[in-house]
Amino acid sequence: MDLTRLMKQQVGITAAQRVQTGMVVGLGTGSTAAFAIAELGRRQREEGLQIIGVPTSFSAAVQAKQEGLPVRTIDQVDQVDLAIDGADEVDPQRNLIKGGGAAHTLEKIVDGRADSFLVVVDQSKLVQQLGAFPLPVEVLPAAVYGVMTALTKLGGTPQIRLGVKKDGPVITDHGNFVVDVQFEAIPDPAALEMTLNNIPGVLENGLFVGLVNEVLVGRVVGDQVEVYTLS
Ligand code: A5P
Repeated sequence: MDLTRLMKQQVGITAAQRVQTGMVVGLGTGSTAAFAIAELGRRQREEGLQIIGVPTSFSAAVQAKQEGLPVRTIDQVDQVDLAIDGADEVDPQRNLIKGGGAAHTLEKIVDGRADSFLVVVDQSKLVQQLGAFPLPVEVLPAAVYGVMTALTKLGGTPQIRLGVKKDGPVITDHGNFVVDVQFEAIPDPAALEMTLNNIPGVLENGLFVGLVNEVLVGRVVGDQVEVYTLS
């Protein structure tokens, strides 16, 4: 296994070991969160762990079912005790860019509802300022060109995300498009998050501001991988 994958695996496993029987757990999307879901499945089979999972995407729901984890939608639970999810960028204030897997709308709903939101990343995701990663914005298809004009006026360079092994745009779990917006920098994530969500036709953007309780980071030290908490 290459080192990046190993960092993702260690951090995912460490997060899943925080989970206790009886918890309702938000199940994140992406390759790092997938290691946490796999570990929850292992703990259920081998240790008798009993949880309810709330998937943040179709993909997380499929994996949870394969692992035999009971799942509910966010509207079927009264609370989420802990959410474990990855990120595309993390700044020193623990603000995030998410949505590399086009799942940020439901991720923000589930992660935002959690009593505790635990982010799992490898060291490559840590940045001084958000914005090198193009910001994902979920957009109603009927409004996409108007939204792109508005995003350009805000100083961004928007691009409709295109499918792989599919001609045309990526379609989200909710039937919408994703526009990836490159900004020169994002000095004020809280202001930009609100401004973007105020454009008619925008469902949600990938800025997660003030939602995170803890960030677990996988890093390489010598030829070993270790996990630490971002302080
Ligand atoms: C999904 O839409 C994203 O928010 C992911 O959580 C993010 O892209 C992190 O993915 P990896 O863990 O695969 O890097």
